[in-house]
Amino acid sequence: MDDQFKKLTSHCKEYGFIFQSSEVYDGLAAVYDYGPYGVELKNNLKAYWWRAMTQAHDNIVGIDSAIFMHPKTWKASGHVDAFNDPMVDNKDSRKRYRADQLIEGYMEGLENKIQKEVTKAARRFGDTFDPEMFLATNARVLGYQEEHGRVRERLAKAMTNGDLEALGEMITDLGIACPVSGSRNWTEVRQFNLMFSTQLGNIAGEEGKLYLRPETAQGIFVNFLNVQNTTRQKLPFGIAQIGKAFRNEIVARQFIFRMREFEQMEMQFFVQPGTELDWYAYWKEARMKWHNALGFPTEKYRYHDHDNLAHYANAAVDIEFEFPFGFRELEGIHSRTDFDLSAHQELSGRKIQYFDPESNTSYVPYVVETSIGLDRLFLAVMSHCLQEETVPDSKGKDATRTVLKLPPALAPVKCAVLPLVKNKPELTEKARSIFNSLKFAFPCQYDEKDAIGRRYRRQDAIGTPFCVTVDFETLTDGQVTVRERDSLAQKRVAIEAVEHMVSSQTDLKSMLTG
Ligand code: GAP
Repeated sequence: MDDQFKKLTSHCKEYGFIFQSSEVYDGLAAVYDYGPYGVELKNNLKAYWWRAMTQAHDNIVGIDSAIFMHPKTWKASGHVDAFNDPMVDNKDSRKRYRADQLIEGYMEGLENKIQKEVTKAARRFGDTFDPEMFLATNARVLGYQEEHGRVRERLAKAMTNGDLEALGEMITDLGIACPVSGSRNWTEVRQFNLMFSTQLGNIAGEEGKLYLRPETAQGIFVNFLNVQNTTRQKLPFGIAQIGKAFRNEIVARQFIFRMREFEQMEMQFFVQPGTELDWYAYWKEARMKWHNALGFPTEKYRYHDHDNLAHYANAAVDIEFEFPFGFRELEGIHSRTDFDLSAHQELSGRKIQYFDPESNTSYVPYVVETSIGLDRLFLAVMSHCLQEETVPDSKGKDATRTVLKLPPALAPVKCAVLPLVKNKPELTEKARSIFNSLKFAFPCQYDEKDAIGRRYRRQDAIGTPFCVTVDFETLTDGQVTVRERDSLAQKRVAIEAVEHMVSSQTDLKSMLTG
């Protein structure tokens, strides 16, 4: 898995998808830049989400609120007091860790031990092996399972109660060692606030302290009345937003999985109090359907109910994706009650309520939120789509190819136009004119460098679904050879038919309509 992940990160760099930020200065940890193909893929992912939310629902509208917000926002939302992670330092390596993640790592170790037992037994018993029976009866496995359950329960309790001492005791009791120094020489567990702060130009001291937003959601809450008044939406209705968020993560690793500057795509759905759990169930299912419409295997996704609920939620679930390093959170669906709107109402002194014309009453709406990290989605898509495969009827270095099997609607380049050879003006001119006629219909690329086989491979590596080759026959029969990325099938197509063929197969519409 490590190997697969390394290949993925180096592919992202080599082909211009993602670069380490400030690389000339040896980089800035957990901050990344998107390159020429990365930005296109990212924009396509945004469009897929945005259109699924706003265009497909006549009761969801979008906004784009500022990153800086009045500092009271973060007092009301609870982020100043409670947006903390428990941190612990190892005194020998001087490395800092999240205490809960160290314990989760211990639990993963137990899961791996169970998996090893299963693999060993499967080898020993061959065809007669019954994994369910083995998991339910093997003494060693039962011991690991029991311990896993105990640790999980203790961790959930400590996290729910914000009990730092209990977390410290767990690290000692479980004998967890620092992965770098191998020592068990830990500091006590302390709280670490994840918000970045900065200073307004014209106000000195605490009063001028501003935060970079740690979630986009609050920009939606404080605009609830503006949007409702101007759009005259009735409950239930939603507000969607895509934008940057910032978190001073203690442990930031696994490439773009956990970043300090990242992008969120969030939607707050405002509902009548008492109906929130029905809407929570609705969005839980709707969001999974949206993921499944990408066409990846359904086994790559699973729900994970939160063990300890955030301060604002009465129900919460993650949609997890199987990344190369295991199942991890990709999206959260949270029933946030009336916590945020009520808190802003109280601290601002403004009435933030909805007048319900049917019941003739005013109340603070409840909220169901869907929140997905765009960069995490990018990583999920890249990690599933980047594949190495053998090429039928090929030998030597051509026998395998690296191909990025993106859903065609997400591909950065939809079609490459390639003259068969470079030094024949009649071919290059024809290819250029085809390229010029297509380039406003969808993102296209013209490439004449290197042998045709190498150019095909370059397009495979960036996920281009169609390559159009212009050869000498084109000049007489008005047809080009269209090579399809996944099947490698080649067929002759009339030049005039190319635009419709590519557009119809690379349009987001088919993904949006399921
Ligand atoms: N408004 C709710 C909220 O922010 P969250 O679970 O903290 O909830 C939502 O974050 C999503 O944002 C996560 O599911 C994840 O995809 C993404 N996310 C959170 N922290 C991230 C980070 N440091 N780097 C990249 N993505 C992150």
